[in-house]
Amino acid sequence: MSFTDAQKFWDARFNTEEFIFGTEPNEFLKEATLKYLSGDLNVLCVADGEGRNSVYLAKQGFKVKAFDLSPVAVEKSKKLALKNNVNIGFFVSDCDSWKWKEDCYDAIAAIFIQFADPNMRARLFKHMISSLKPGGILIIQGYTPKQIEHKTGGPGKIENLYTKSMMIELLGGLKILELTEHEGELREGNHHIGMSALMDVVAIKPI
Ligand SMILES: C[S@@+](CC[C@H](N)C(=O)[O-])C[C@H]1O[C@@H](n2cnc3c(N)ncnc32)[C@H](O)[C@@H]1O
Repeated sequence: MSFTDAQKFWDARFNTEEFIFGTEPNEFLKEATLKYLSGDLNVLCVADGEGRNSVYLAKQGFKVKAFDLSPVAVEKSKKLALKNNVNIGFFVSDCDSWKWKEDCYDAIAAIFIQFADPNMRARLFKHMISSLKPGGILIIQGYTPKQIEHKTGGPGKIENLYTKSMMIELLGGLKILELTEHEGELREGNHHIGMSALMDVVAIKPI
């Protein structure tokens, strides 16, 4: 899909009053945050959608930046941040044109970013890893190939879904703290709903 087509596709999805992935943070992100993140941290949310995850992280007291391809989603994020009284740096950007800086973030959240096909995914993971500070934490949740059977969310493209061996390769250079495949119920708005085949990942950049 070209950049313009992808933007049109996601804008059309988000162009409704309701928050299609809900306003509550992703449960795994919440758990990992409570377990691994504390202090005065700079956090980046990749493809943050309507802001549920960046708003949660800002409410924990972190300095948060977030970007997404969809201007419609970013406008909704700004409203959610205002409602929750938090300041977040929101940007409209696709992951290839985001100004990635080396050794910049204490943590990066990449929750359901499986719009990325294998080539884009390889570039994106390389960027995320180099953009983490030494000691920085990468938190990822995505779907495994079994999700094709559940049909309860996700891109429906098997090549975009995560396997453990793929994840180990993508995370080369980081120390993996958690890498778990499991099935469980998601209740995230009306787009991630029902039994789902998930992969939870936490990794740290060595100091
Ligand atoms: C499944 S949604 C997940 C949103 C958010 N991470 C969440 O968990 O609520 C995928 C998001 O990726 C964004 N997106 C799609 N292609 C993108 C790209 N190339 N660069 C950046 N964001 C993209 C979409 O606009 C959408 O918000």
